[in-house]
Amino acid sequence: MTAPVLPADSPDAIARAAALLREGGLVAMPTETVYGLAADAGNAAAVARLYAAKGRPRFNPLIAHVSGIAMAKRLVEWPAMADALARAFWPGPLTLVLPKLADATICDLANAGLDSVAIRAPGHVAARALLAAFGGPLVAPSANPSGGVSPTTAAHVSEGLGETLDLILDGGPCTVGVESTVIALLDGRATLLRPGGLERDRIEAITGPLAIAGHSDAPTSPGMLASHYAPRAAMRLNATVAQDGELLLGFGPVAGNLNLSAAGDLAEAAARLFAALREMDAAGPKQIAVAPIPDEGLGEAINDRLQRAAAPRPVP
Ligand code: TXA
Ligand code: MG
Repeated sequence: MTAPVLPADSPDAIARAAALLREGGLVAMPTETVYGLAADAGNAAAVARLYAAKGRPRFNPLIAHVSGIAMAKRLVEWPAMADALARAFWPGPLTLVLPKLADATICDLANAGLDSVAIRAPGHVAARALLAAFGGPLVAPSANPSGGVSPTTAAHVSEGLGETLDLILDGGPCTVGVESTVIALLDGRATLLRPGGLERDRIEAITGPLAIAGHSDAPTSPGMLASHYAPRAAMRLNATVAQDGELLLGFGPVAGNLNLSAAGDLAEAAARLFAALREMDAAGPKQIAVAPIPDEGLGEAINDRLQRAAAPRPVP
């Protein structure tokens, strides 16, 4: 049986979702970035069900979603830099990795047994309503089978995970369209772990230049699998013309079969990226070619997702 889909702006639907989460259920919630698959962060059985539903590698830690700074401070150490970033960008597409407090109500399975936890206050009105009704942290990875394209509509969630979760809240298409930017604030330094929906230069205006994960002296993000966000079709990047058996995803002057943004607007392209990859994949091409995307602002997150979609796939 596939999970019921309820309108996220209905107070009854939010109350039903909060009740299901309290019982250890799995609920898909809209956020401004992508749809999340939510579970009670403190309930190890629910988190185990969540990993199983996604088919996610166990070592990949989850983001704890909170209603705001007050809830975050009950879970993690809160240095001045965290406060400055949260005041500037929360609620919104910014995740902060911080040292976990000993009495945090987050089970070890949720953060893969690490000493740190990733925390974010989402901006979508329905996610905020659900967090208020639930009253505690909710872990929520993107609501899609592990490795696949992230969902930006309730229909995407239904297609991928409809059989395995308890309720889907439909809050319309996501406005940002790529996952949050993840910043670690550990050992007194700020490190970019994942480019995302908040542009790096806006963060660096507060933190100064960020260290980049992957350099040997920076903390690593266990979730940064090379192949991720992948459609069924193979991928070819920086293409300007389609070859045999390809569909071309355009940007700006490269029209393609479908254009992420004819105006060359990176925010529009980010918001459309995952839905466009799904739409092209549904036509069953051998390969999807993608036009060059400038590597600035939100282009950094778009190119990160495209490179992972194009990376060699794990052998099943
Ligand atoms: O926009 C988003 O962030 C979405 C929506 C649903 O909020 N969520 C999302 O979650 O993208 P997920 O699980 O797909 O990505 C979490 C990222 C991974 O790259 C993971 O490795 C990293 O955050 N992460 C989580 N906890 C961490 C930790 N303690 N240390 C380092 N990286 C961590
Ligand atoms: Mg994901």
